[in-house]
Formats: sequence, structure tokens, C-alpha cells
Amino acid sequence: MPQPSATDRAIAVHKAKWGEPELVVRAPGRVNLIGEHTDYNEGFTLPMALPFDTAIALTTDGDPSSGTVTVESAGFGEIAIDPTGDPTTVAGWARHLAGVVSLLPSYGVPSAGWRATIESDIPTGASLSSSAALEVAAIEVLLVRAGIEWEPIDIARLGQRVENEVVGLPSGIMDQYISAGAVRGHASLMDCREHSLTPIPLPDEAVVAIMDTATRRVLAEVAYGDRRAACQRAVAELGIGSLREANPTQVARIVDPVDRRRAQHVITENQRTLDAARAMRSGDIISLGRLMSESHASLRDDYEVSGPGLDAIVDAANNSPGCLGARMTGGGFAGCAVALVRAEDAESFRSSVLGRYEFEDRQARVWSCAPAQGASIVSNNLS
Ligand code: GLA
Repeated sequence: MPQPSATDRAIAVHKAKWGEPELVVRAPGRVNLIGEHTDYNEGFTLPMALPFDTAIALTTDGDPSSGTVTVESAGFGEIAIDPTGDPTTVAGWARHLAGVVSLLPSYGVPSAGWRATIESDIPTGASLSSSAALEVAAIEVLLVRAGIEWEPIDIARLGQRVENEVVGLPSGIMDQYISAGAVRGHASLMDCREHSLTPIPLPDEAVVAIMDTATRRVLAEVAYGDRRAACQRAVAELGIGSLREANPTQVARIVDPVDRRRAQHVITENQRTLDAARAMRSGDIISLGRLMSESHASLRDDYEVSGPGLDAIVDAANNSPGCLGARMTGGGFAGCAVALVRAEDAESFRSSVLGRYEFEDRQARVWSCAPAQGASIVSNNLS
């Protein structure tokens, strides 16, 4: 029997605890097919939304501009957020929510006075953007309650501010933007300078497999900040606006060998992402898969953000039936990898990867995922 989804669970728990919700909203996690560590360099990425959601069922409770916020979340029990408090003092996952609640009023959106139940199907710490989905779902539900509509990029910008200013991670725009703006059945070429999303259908002959190494990152934030700093140094040295503008001759002139390799990854990854989008558009799954594998090599060798578990599962994928290409996805070091697999081989690919993956005593998980829709309203009972 299929398990109840995060949305089903949020509604059921909310009804039992607080009655019929006024609003139910969901936002998905994501996987990035290619274009890694390019978003904060004004480059290109090619992510898609996953069929794993974070769902929020909400009921208004008191004054939207000053009332309390009470949240029930599976596994974490009931917590209260002080809408006037300092969100950076809130611990754990709720800091993302506190960040949304504290920043929204400066955009004219009341964010206090509600009770909600939150459930999620997105594995945490797995590079599938569970935090971004929580931020996007929270922003969306409060916008809908206020009767205000925002474009996906504006939702994403606020989510990114929460990460940068409240959580303290210098992350880019990709995760929140795709969670807010994805189109079912499509990956999207994201231009992180123009802030545009161009949906491209996933060819029928291929499926996207998510492979969880069952490793979780430790202190990855520090390494993420280091990589960003290296890119900024390269930009300053070359006297350009961003690595988006750099060409191979310029990059070859960067004096520090490590900074040079970091920049080398970014400019080659941008080109691979544009090539991958073109390959996807023309249904050329062979080239798309090859580009994904080249991306992994560049992230492992030049950007140095892979990890032993990720390399092991990518290796297992490359030796499994139907694999067209495989790579780490997201920030790196641990979590999930992604593979492009011939549709007819999806099941044998899965069992082969599960059997071949050997890293410590970790038990991998593999899911075939169709691209899902970005954040949406599930139900709205507000009059
Ligand atoms: C994390 C960040 C994104 C992006 C990726 C790497 O997921 O949140 O903004 O930089 O890493 O591509």
C-alpha cells in the first residue's frame, strides 16, 4: 500500500490537533542534473523538482501582525516562534521558519498569528534541499494567507536571504528558485545572472535516479565558504564582474594554482550545462549522460567537493545496467548523487547500485524520480 504523502500527513495531523486547515501548501526538494557551484558565480544550472515535498497545513490564530506562531512538526513536537524575536537564536530546522517569519513583514506581508503542521518527505542533510523547500513552503503559505502573489524569483530571493542572513550559509539562488518555479516533467535551465528558468522536457527514454550514499555532511559550510572565497579572489584578480565572464585564456593566467582550478571548474561547468541543455532539448541522452560524468570529474578533481561515499556510488552507477552518466549533486562532500539511466533499465540499475555500493557499512537508497511541479497550493478554504 502506498505510504501517505507529507501533504496527507500534514492534513491528518492538523485536523486531529487543530481542526480543518485553512490553507495547505507544498514545496518540493530538488536534484541538480548539472551546473554545480555555478549559481553564485552568475552561471547556469539545470535542476528539477523531486516528487518529495515539505507540506504546511495552516490555520490563522490571532492577529496576523502580532499574534503567536505555533508549529507542530513530525519528530520535533510542538514549538513556538516569537515573531518579534531574533531568528538567529532559534535552534535547528525551525531557524529557517523563524527567518521567514522575521523577514516577511519588511515586504509588507504579515507573518504572525498562525498555527501549522509541517511534514516532509525530503531526506535531510542529503543535498536534496529540504531547507529550501521549508523556506519556500513557508513563504508561499503566508503570501497566500495575505492574498499576495509573488513571482518564483522573488520567493527564491527571500529564501536565499534567510539562508545567508539568518542561517549563516552563503548559498546561491538555485535551490529555492527551482523549488518555487519548477515545471512538472521538465528540468529547467536556470540562468543565475538573468534570473530566468527555461523548462526543458526530460526525454522519455531516460529516467533520473537519485542515489543516497547514506553519508551526511559535516562542516560542509566551511568548505562551501572557502570555494566561494576562491571564486571571489579569481574575479578580483581578473578584474571582471563574475566568473560567468571569464574565458579559458584568462583563467590560465590566475596565479594561485588552487584558485585557478576552482575557476577552471566553474567556466567548464557553465559550458557543460549549456551543452547539456541543448542535448536534452534534442533528446540526445548519450551526450547528456556524458556531460554529467564529466561534471563529476571536474567537481572531484578541480573543485574538490566530492567525497568517498559519493565517488563510491558514482562508480557503482557507472558499472550498472543502463547508466548514461552519474555525478554528485548539490553542495557535495556527502548526501546524494544523481544518474541518468535508460528507462527500460531503471529497475536493474537500482538493484545493481544497491548491490555494488560499498562504503563503510552504509546502506544506499535509490529512487527513480520524474520531475515534479514547483510549490503549489493544495487547498485554500479562506473565504
Ligand atoms: C548548495 C547551495 C546552492 C548551490 C549548490 C552547489 O545546494 O544551496 O545554492 O550553490 O550547493 O551547486
